[in-house]
Amino acid sequence: MGTLTNKRILLGITGGIAAYKSADTVRRLRDAGAEVRAIMTAAATEFITPLTLQAVSGHPVHRQLLDAEPGQRPTDAGAQDGMDHIELARWADALLVAPASANFLARLAQGRADDLLSAVCLATQAPVAVAPAMNRQMWSNAATQANLATLGKNGIRIFGPAEGSQACGETGPGRMLEPAELVTQISQLFVTGELDGLSVMVTAGPTWEAIDPVRGLTNRSSGKMGYAVAQAAAEAGARVILVSGPTALADPERVQTVRVSSAQEMYDAVHAHVGTANIFIGVAAVADYRPSQIADNKIKKDAQNITLELTRNPDILASIAALKPAPFTVGFAAETEDVEQRARRKRESKNLDLIAANRVGTNLGFGSEENSLLLIGQDGVTPLPIQPKTQLARALIRHIAVKYHATRTAGVRQIRR
Ligand code: CTP
Repeated sequence: MGTLTNKRILLGITGGIAAYKSADTVRRLRDAGAEVRAIMTAAATEFITPLTLQAVSGHPVHRQLLDAEPGQRPTDAGAQDGMDHIELARWADALLVAPASANFLARLAQGRADDLLSAVCLATQAPVAVAPAMNRQMWSNAATQANLATLGKNGIRIFGPAEGSQACGETGPGRMLEPAELVTQISQLFVTGELDGLSVMVTAGPTWEAIDPVRGLTNRSSGKMGYAVAQAAAEAGARVILVSGPTALADPERVQTVRVSSAQEMYDAVHAHVGTANIFIGVAAVADYRPSQIADNKIKKDAQNITLELTRNPDILASIAALKPAPFTVGFAAETEDVEQRARRKRESKNLDLIAANRVGTNLGFGSEENSLLLIGQDGVTPLPIQPKTQLARALIRHIAVKYHATRTAGVRQIRR
């Protein structure tokens, strides 16, 4: 797993001879796991072609702010991938301007927004870093140094420059850092200490247990909590596989989603993909039973009473906790009464590292936007108060990350009974 897995990096390229290194920077960012899009200023296109950057990044290059010529408008297919400056600003997890010319640094220090790159720098909430590249006299000039001081004060990171021989034949400070060094520095912006480099599997949604070709047994799980957990794990840097029962939700971004229908299919998909997962989180509301027979044709209402015989489904969560070695295994418990005691027993009977319990049968839980959880581990109980499911999922992932690292630091998977 790369140091930039799941990260979206916008690479801004301004006019300077070091722009020829941009293709290598893109390649190395992608090798580290990042998705990369490039923005070029007009001057940059004098040094390297947009076609080259498009080929190495796998995306059209962004160049125009507004009032573009036909063929360059953001909405023109293939020209700018349909993203305007605000969308690009939101898309990015980090923005790296490399090379950053003296002129661009001056414009950024002034807060100008009259071309696409400077407007995106102004509009983004993501961290912005610049890698200056210029002649040593231009670097040392008091105006450039004053601009750098302003940028530093405004929270812009300055990567480099290096010292050495320059394209102009002089020697001194002002060389752009090498692409490999830029990747190292940008990676350091993302060190959260949470799930970087780990692999996480999440189950979500209900299952559908067919009775005949048009009918089935299911439940009211919307999948929202499981999807939010998968998304939060991806944000924390993990490689995430989501095994989902039928839901109306779109696949979460940056997550490998495997769609299944029945509990048996979910069991099979989980075991096919669990591989070297470090953490397993079972959020799915898996049907405990399925019809023993699935009718080939639609059942007709001939009889006054019919009996449906049900067979126990495999317990996916317990089967993962029983693997040797097992991932750090987290279950969910939906209870209507005696929440803590019942969840505690469930954690012990399934041999889980952690169980996230919630009370159902009120307005919370299935289908709602908000929820609260009681996290029960071997060493205590942590309540997570009522909040939107996306925030709750992030808090849960933070808790899991801390507990996972604690058990792994101890060197052994703890005996959990
Ligand atoms: N689970 C699973 N496979 C099943 C059943 C449940 O992986 N066949 C997981 C769920 O994803 C959840 C936890 O187990 O993480 C819930 O435990 P479970 O015993 O199914 O809870 P309830 O269905 O509420 O059990 P009971 O009705 O016995 O309280």
